[in-house]
Amino acid sequence: MAEWLNKFGLYLAPMAGVSDCVFRSLCREMGADVVETEFVSAEGVLQAWERTRAYVELCEEQRPVGVQIFGAHPESMQEAARIIAGEVHPDFIDINAGCPVPKVVGRNGGASLLKEPELLQSIAEAVVRGVEGACPVTAKIRIGWDVEHICASEVCHRLVEAGVSAITIHGRTRSQQYGGRADWSVIRRCAAEVTVPVIGNGDIATADDVMREKAAGGVAGVMIGRAAMTNPWIFREAKQLMNAGAPLPPPSVQERVSFILRHVRLAIADGRYGDEGSTVRTMRARLLAYAKGIPGSKAQRPALARVSSLAELREILSRLLLPS
Ligand SMILES: Cc1cc2nc3c(=O)[nH]c(=O)nc-3n(C[C@H](O)[C@H](O)[C@H](O)COP(=O)(O)O)c2cc1C
Repeated sequence: MAEWLNKFGLYLAPMAGVSDCVFRSLCREMGADVVETEFVSAEGVLQAWERTRAYVELCEEQRPVGVQIFGAHPESMQEAARIIAGEVHPDFIDINAGCPVPKVVGRNGGASLLKEPELLQSIAEAVVRGVEGACPVTAKIRIGWDVEHICASEVCHRLVEAGVSAITIHGRTRSQQYGGRADWSVIRRCAAEVTVPVIGNGDIATADDVMREKAAGGVAGVMIGRAAMTNPWIFREAKQLMNAGAPLPPPSVQERVSFILRHVRLAIADGRYGDEGSTVRTMRARLLAYAKGIPGSKAQRPALARVSSLAELREILSRLLLPS
């Protein structure tokens, strides 16, 4: 088993438009043990590899890092996995069987595979064959399609039979989308039933939440999504609590502001979202998420929602540093 799968880990969730190369590196710096790209479609890999490749480009300091793929056909998923394993060399390839968005579900990918566990098993078998032992294959699922169809246990058993090395379970159904609460009892039950590591996901918002799930036992790690968008320090805070048993003080406003500016500067240099103006505009939702964690930031939200340049952003953030 890969070494990183062997110990309780803090995973950065795959998040489309969020878990890009820059953010993955920043979260690794903050203490995330394992990171993952946002999903890419198998068809995109096959039909437009040069364009799709930008989404899954990795750098060494991010390892262990996985690439997530989605699709509905064993053949295309197998071929996409073969290309990614051969050209990008990720530490693992993750199959998305949890995405609830109509664009993905409507094409029978993502969470819609929970309605067809046999097809999901065939896809997992095909992907395992496709990587030809170059890296482990994992899967990320939800607990079921809706509350009447909680199928995580059956799906997990099928995935293990197919040869996956680990499974992440988001404790919500597809119908819940992101509403309600994640049901960790289902996650723990599945973790107890299967022989591969199970990573729990859903509503981990603080270092205390990490500690609680670690203490409850069963899971081989926790995956953190939205909380990392507001508070990437959660990884460092959880590490400190797990290793030293004492909480870290929250980051100062100065540290938060410096982090945000560094993130934006790195994103501009990376160029993934175009020139400076286009990068800053694309990152507005990210800036608003960061601001949520800063006391007194409410008054600056309208300005952040309209910001178009680094200089303007600096000016807005500097207001947060003034004593109120
Ligand atoms: C903006 C956004 C984009 C997401 N994109 C993906 C994705 O590409 N692949 C995936 O498996 N899950 C995706 N998710 C789901 C997250 O990985 C995670 O399962 C979910 O947010 C629950 O975890 P949390 O409560 O820690 O946020 C996305 C979630 C968000 C908020």
